[in-house]
Amino acid sequence: MRIGVPKEIKNQEYRVGLTPGAITELTHAGHSVLLETGAGDGIDVSDVEYKASGGDIARNAATVFASADMIVKVKEPQPIECEMLRPGQIIFTYLHLAPDPVQTKLLLASGATAIAYETVHDSAGRLPLLAPMSEVAGRLSVQVAAHYLQKTEGGRGVLLSGVPGVEPANVMIIGAGVAGMNATQLAVGLGARVVVVDKSVQRLREIDQLYHGRVQTISSTRESIDYYSQWADVIIGAVLVPGASAPKLITKAMLSKMKRGSVLVDIAIDQGGCFETSHPTTHDNPVYEVDGVIHYCVANMPGAVPRTSAYALHNVTLPYVLTLANNGLDALKSDPGFMSGLNVYRGQLTNAAVAEAQNRSYVLPESIL
Ligand SMILES: NC(=O)c1ccc[n+]([C@@H]2O[C@H](COP(=O)([O-])OP(=O)(O)OC[C@H]3O[C@@H](n4cnc5c(N)ncnc54)[C@H](O)[C@@H]3O)[C@@H](O)[C@H]2O)c1
Repeated sequence: MRIGVPKEIKNQEYRVGLTPGAITELTHAGHSVLLETGAGDGIDVSDVEYKASGGDIARNAATVFASADMIVKVKEPQPIECEMLRPGQIIFTYLHLAPDPVQTKLLLASGATAIAYETVHDSAGRLPLLAPMSEVAGRLSVQVAAHYLQKTEGGRGVLLSGVPGVEPANVMIIGAGVAGMNATQLAVGLGARVVVVDKSVQRLREIDQLYHGRVQTISSTRESIDYYSQWADVIIGAVLVPGASAPKLITKAMLSKMKRGSVLVDIAIDQGGCFETSHPTTHDNPVYEVDGVIHYCVANMPGAVPRTSAYALHNVTLPYVLTLANNGLDALKSDPGFMSGLNVYRGQLTNAAVAEAQNRSYVLPESIL
């Protein structure tokens, strides 16, 4: 199969669809890969390195789209990219179609087959192509919080780890899933005092066993969150209720009782945010203050570390890219979890959640493939 990798054009997106290691695997399996020149600039991989791994370089995106059987990207195709897709061509990338009727319309009109990273399931029902970005965001959240706790950044002037004779910072992590567990690992590693809050007692049991009392686990209630929000120097929000907006767990009233200069990091901002006072920010202007509390609410946190994020993404997407390249759409038929990634097939919508969000009709993917 001929695989095309254009340079990402969405604002502040520096990741790239495939890394050199992935190109080597694909070419070794008999496929060819055409990359747009400069596609790897944002992760510090040159055209020369891509060529050395077996890829070919095209002068522009139009050439990549025109010659590829399958486009592999990171972010959803922008309108100008949707217009370059053609009937029968496959595009495999993050789509996030539900809140995006414009992209849905353009993809349906293109006649292409669009498979979304974020709706692919594994056999346990997890979302394997989302997990690495939650890992990155979870770990980054602690790094970011430590930075904004500094007085020079508007924070309380507290060192996360403390020093001998002086207590460390107090960190509350709400939501002990992939992002929350990774945040916990970093916060503990940096020496902070950590409380993890989740509504799943099973998750709390696992953390308790893992950290042998080094981390305090607390069941999620309004009362417990209110209590620990007054104790915390840092609160990291990492909850997810699949298919729903994030619940507002820190209210404006709770915020007014928090310590001045403490830091909130709302990882769940891409689902609307789990603090009442959150609104999305960008890497250009990542923080704002409400009642003396710093809010960091960047919706694409992994974008800050594109090199790590791109390699983490490829570790999980490569097996799917390979099986698609080897078997075409038959790859979906033999894996129901992969089939759930199919969002658009030759002008038809094939995802129930997207159809419901946009009041459109859809067909079951199994009925047309
Ligand atoms: N901002 C970013 O750049 C970025 C990057 C990656 C992921 N995310 C977001 O981070 C969030 C977490 O993702 P994840 O992969 O860790 O999800 P996950 O499903 O692995 O974990 C979510 C956890 O939240 C818990 N939870 C749900 N409701 C709760 C409540 N009321 N109180 C306490 N805990 C509750 C669940 O029990 C679960 O343990 C998602 O919204 C995801 O979209 C954001």
